[in-house]
Amino acid sequence: MHEYETHDFDVIILGAGGAGLRAAIEARAMGLRTALVCKSLLGKAHTVMAEGGMAAAMGNVYSEDNWEVHFRDTMRGGKMLNNWRMAELHAKEAPDRVRELEEWGAIFDRTKDGLILQRDFGGHRYARLAHVGDRTGLELIRTLQQKAVADGIEVFMECKVLRLLRDEQGAVNGMVGYWRPSGKFVVFKAKSVVLATGGVGKSWMYTSNSWEGTGDGHAMALWAGADLIDMECIQFHPTGMVWPLSVRGILVTEGVRGDGGVLRNSEGNRFMFDYIPPMFQAETADSPEEADRWYDDHAAGRRPPELLPRDEVARSINAEVKAGRGSPHGGVFLDIASRRSAEDIRRRLPSMYHQFKELAGVDITAEAMEVGPTCHYIMGGVRVDADSTATTVAGLFAAGEVAGGMHGSNRLGGNSLSDLIVFGRRAGIGASEFAQGRSDVTIDEGQVQEVIEAAIAPFERESGENPYEIQQSLQETMQSLVGIIRTGSELEDALGKIEELEDRAANVALSGGTKYNPGWNLTTDLPSMLTVSRCTAMGALERKESRGGQTRNDFPTPDPEMGKVNFVERIADPAADTSGVGGTPSIRSITVQPEPIPVMPAELQALFEEAH
Ligand code: FUM
Repeated sequence: MHEYETHDFDVIILGAGGAGLRAAIEARAMGLRTALVCKSLLGKAHTVMAEGGMAAAMGNVYSEDNWEVHFRDTMRGGKMLNNWRMAELHAKEAPDRVRELEEWGAIFDRTKDGLILQRDFGGHRYARLAHVGDRTGLELIRTLQQKAVADGIEVFMECKVLRLLRDEQGAVNGMVGYWRPSGKFVVFKAKSVVLATGGVGKSWMYTSNSWEGTGDGHAMALWAGADLIDMECIQFHPTGMVWPLSVRGILVTEGVRGDGGVLRNSEGNRFMFDYIPPMFQAETADSPEEADRWYDDHAAGRRPPELLPRDEVARSINAEVKAGRGSPHGGVFLDIASRRSAEDIRRRLPSMYHQFKELAGVDITAEAMEVGPTCHYIMGGVRVDADSTATTVAGLFAAGEVAGGMHGSNRLGGNSLSDLIVFGRRAGIGASEFAQGRSDVTIDEGQVQEVIEAAIAPFERESGENPYEIQQSLQETMQSLVGIIRTGSELEDALGKIEELEDRAANVALSGGTKYNPGWNLTTDLPSMLTVSRCTAMGALERKESRGGQTRNDFPTPDPEMGKVNFVERIADPAADTSGVGGTPSIRSITVQPEPIPVMPAELQALFEEAH
């Protein structure tokens, strides 16, 4: 019998980025015994990588802006694969959530009249991103963290959760994990659980995600019986650092382009004019002169092509590099120096200035940056009810990047921070209401012991695999075979390799103990990394079309029929299968199938017809 400590709450939120913090604040405000559990330190979350701002149709810079335009932009950006109800709620509620942040102490840049300033970003028709320089995610986290602590929410840091626990009816009633520093096990009992665990980027080699982004929430939801949707839709942010190699993938905010930065190839051409897709031709400038007029007055010209949605820009950069017109280190050039004064750049983009100066020795007020696509975000995720964020498993809720649907096949920049606060709040309400209707829960001791037993099994093997080698092979596989541009044969190859890696990961051998053991920490991340990678590759193989964050070389155009379905992945009877890594269900038991997207109501549909 393995020992562990136990904590008991009404609502437990797993993940302390923007969505988790916002959910916890709401649950606490509703009077529930609430705890926040996070794998890392409080405040260290991928939320800070949304640097350029949070999108909300406040109309502070362009009074013509409103929720309907924001809704339309979001749906078009997502190539209509979005959960329209989520996109509607998001567009309607984002302005109130931003104002609420301000009431809680967030500092924003200001218009000359003292309103919250809003900046341009790709795919947004109007300047819409509330921001503070290029540190908006950090300000959001800082504000919510301060409020959560002041409200007395209990926070448990450096806790790696291994598995969700379920009662006899299949409802989630807690989780089991361990403290990363001590390696001691812990069980949290809860009447409801909110997943706010962020994304999956660490399964790729070049990513803006840091070590936490291993898809734990996605995988644990699937293992608990929940549905995942559209896991093939991965966002490669067009601009990550490419040099030096040690920092490859670190984000270069879209705010650089929003503030006038332009992309050039090795021949000095603004190549984005060559890549304007038919869908965006009517609203995109076809000459640099027209594009530049737009920055001064949105009525005087059409949008610059550098501000096309991210999927379009990332693919164009990829094509330029492949055509031999890239920068010396395999990217393209992003130039803000010739577009704005040095003072302006340092004031509006202070983090970018320091990042390039300190990490690459580049002065962005005088030189162009070298940038290229980096794995940034997963649009797919746990299937949720838009209003309550309830998943398909009782007692389990999900918000933020781990939840699917809101962004369709491609997310617009800036829509992530507003997603976190809109759906974080809704998750807090949904989970609290569920907990209020549930009596005390009892944990099944057998489930806990099985999870702990499987977690320490690698210490009992005398010889076996090295977890770092498995992680590296997985990252190479995902980068080269499940990257920006995909083909059927490569995806099949990737699936075979991921299965081989599952077999190898089941045979990891470790020495030492569970205390301060990074090799063990990684070993316990491998089951989720393998699971989400398999889901992405399977979804990508099944979606035989190109749409947003899923580009198939062998099916280069969107297929209208596929635009009507989500690809749903699930495990039929997860409790019956412990044959995968660390006692999880095997990745081979995941199935994928298309399911129709609910039809959009006429009043929302009409918004697209009006715009036409
Ligand atoms: O480019 C950025 O600042 C990232 C924003 C986002 O992902 O929303």
